[in-house]
Amino acid sequence: MAILVTGGAGYIGSVTVERLATIGESIVVLDDLSYGHREAIDAHIPFYQGSAGDRGLLADIVKEHEIDSCMHFAASAFVAESVEKPALYFENNVQQGISLLNALVDAGVRRFIFSSSCTVYGEVTRIPIGEDSPLWPKNPYGWTKFTLERILETYDTAYGLKSVCLRYFNAAGATERIGEDHDPETHLIPNVLLAAADPHREVRIFGNQYPTPDGTAIRDYIHVADLADAHIRALEHLRRAGASAALNLGTGRGYSVLEVVESARRVTGVPIRTRIEGPRPGDPPRLVADPSRAKALFKWQPTMSELDAIVESAWAWKKRQPNGYGSRAVAK
Ligand SMILES: NC(=O)c1ccc[n+]([C@@H]2O[C@H](COP(=O)([O-])OP(=O)(O)OC[C@H]3O[C@@H](n4cnc5c(N)ncnc54)[C@H](O)[C@@H]3O)[C@@H](O)[C@H]2O)c1
Repeated sequence: MAILVTGGAGYIGSVTVERLATIGESIVVLDDLSYGHREAIDAHIPFYQGSAGDRGLLADIVKEHEIDSCMHFAASAFVAESVEKPALYFENNVQQGISLLNALVDAGVRRFIFSSSCTVYGEVTRIPIGEDSPLWPKNPYGWTKFTLERILETYDTAYGLKSVCLRYFNAAGATERIGEDHDPETHLIPNVLLAAADPHREVRIFGNQYPTPDGTAIRDYIHVADLADAHIRALEHLRRAGASAALNLGTGRGYSVLEVVESARRVTGVPIRTRIEGPRPGDPPRLVADPSRAKALFKWQPTMSELDAIVESAWAWKKRQPNGYGSRAVAK
């Protein structure tokens, strides 16, 4: 039996694939390479270039590889783009997601692990954010995650499809072989390291008047390998016939933008120039997870997510692959 990994050529998906392969799981990757990189997937792993919602292709894959579980990473994942192009986001993340779910249910697959996000939460009333915080996304991207989570609840009741929705906070860091290479790059740590590598670049800091100790926004950074580990534990949980769940994945400790820049200065030894700009609409001052539910349910413990360790791993990868992967994804 094998695990279907959609979006497995993307950043978090490919690190999870790497980890699954290490522990001897059979894996099949389905990715349309709209944002991912073929080089991120080991050549011996079965790879299909196609859409996560292609029912014909899915029927073939499920039959050929005896799929019994799915990890669904495939999605469009730029918040600002989702505001400009909500149709693309609902089509790619929700419509394709429903087609995927229907194909899996038809084929008798009953285990599903979903890449959700902290963007499902509404106005932050309490820090750290627990799973019982009000859900009311602020952008179309968040609504696509919210919608698929609700659909999964109904598919559990109706079809017995057991799922774990993993609400990641800020994924960061790299393994020996795999790092973050998005185009455009919207995440802070790779952008700070781009500025470390190029003296002509500055890090744009959006807002320095937030009600935080240094005035810049605080986020919860979780190492991508700790995320991969949580996926494996989620799969074990479902294999033990565990109930469906929605869980935060973060460290419970937040760092400000300036703290991240300082960490990168320490790690790289480069001064790194910054430029203060206005705050981005809808950016909350603080997003920090309460990860206690995932820790209790999976006995999961982030071990690589100390800030300097995250930055060191990302910097080591950047030095090995200064231009990221050779291939450039062709965005939808
Ligand atoms: N990176 C983060 O900090 C973060 C935080 C919260 C949630 N997430 C979620 O985690 C998942 C992975 O994020 P990532 O940072 O690795 O993104 P990514 O863009 O690197 O990976 C997504 C992958 O999915 C593929 N893809 C997109 N649409 C597809 C489709 N319709 N069919 C097949 N393949 C498709 C892309 O080519 C890409 O390889 C996404 O669902 C994202 O929404 C990410």
